[in-house]
Amino acid sequence: MVSRVSRTASGAAFCRLLEQSQASDVRQFVDPVVVKLVDPMLAVMASAGPMQDQVLDSMAPGVYGGMVMRTRYIDEVVNAWAEMGKTQVVILGAGLDTRAYRLPSLAGVTVFEADLPEIQRHKQGRLHGLVSSARAVRYVPIDFNTQPLDEALGAAGFDAGTPALFVWEGVTQYLPEPAVRATLAYVAGSAPGSWLVFTYILDGLVGQNSYPGWSGALKQQFDSAEPWLFGLDPHHLSSFLDAFGLALLDDVGDAEYQDRYLNPIGRALVVSAGERVALAVVRPSCGVNSGLTGADPNKKQQPRRADEARRGCCGSSHVEVHGCSRSVDDR
Ligand SMILES: C[S@@+](CC[C@H](N)C(=O)[O-])C[C@H]1O[C@@H](n2cnc3c(N)ncnc32)[C@H](O)[C@@H]1O
Repeated sequence: MVSRVSRTASGAAFCRLLEQSQASDVRQFVDPVVVKLVDPMLAVMASAGPMQDQVLDSMAPGVYGGMVMRTRYIDEVVNAWAEMGKTQVVILGAGLDTRAYRLPSLAGVTVFEADLPEIQRHKQGRLHGLVSSARAVRYVPIDFNTQPLDEALGAAGFDAGTPALFVWEGVTQYLPEPAVRATLAYVAGSAPGSWLVFTYILDGLVGQNSYPGWSGALKQQFDSAEPWLFGLDPHHLSSFLDAFGLALLDDVGDAEYQDRYLNPIGRALVVSAGERVALAVVRPSCGVNSGLTGADPNKKQQPRRADEARRGCCGSSHVEVHGCSRSVDDR
């Protein structure tokens, strides 16, 4: 097994591996690499077939579906970013994320994977010799709680003057609020037009360390190792991000996943409502975009799809100003 801190990363990877045993017409993504990263015993369990997701669901309802859906959504965002010709993706708390090794769209993109050194050692060991599908993969060892991101990324060759997509999947709930805020401030200070896609749990779940319905054994396993420290209220998400200089483009959860991905293919999948994914864009700091501030924190934001974001704004710094300000004002 990998280190204690990466237990949740192993869990997420296990769900992605399980998804590979679904029929190809309902599978949400193709990941031939994740099997190399999962504990061999878990890999044997996963190979028992698609019924395993139902076993998992009986212990932790909606967790498997939530993991699969968030990965599907973020894959779409990453593909959209790469298809715009962008050249940098930063994966914060990358864990056992395999995008740099499985997404052909990343051929022109340098991927920076930031995580604790021990999990990176494990991952690099398991993937040794594997050719990435990205232009390059740079490992960035860091503890978000104690080390500044700008220094760590700079040392890895990140170009702070060029827009980047920051992926923050399954991480914010494990960080204390100051660390979340410090990361958001860093991202918001990056090149205008950069995107941030991140998951968050509902603020009511902070301290509970599990979703309703989890089995006692599972609760015990996850409880003390990686407690849930941070969450957000979706109704206040836009104004929360706005204060950093980030404009919300999309905010999705169970209902949107069912609507966008599952209903059209007739797949019945329980998805936890406890975790959501948000997509935001870094606004220019010059004041051109000052009309973006003042979003009503009590108004539910209308979700926008990643492909709409790609079409509507953020293609270049000039278009970003007008396109993004229109997209937010229109809500
Ligand atoms: C639930 S895992 C998610 C991994 C991956 N993003 C995914 O979705 O599969 C959380 C990740 O955040 C990393 N992490 C948690 N706290 C961290 C910290 N203080 N500094 C750096 N990485 C951290 C863990 O090592 C782990 O890989």
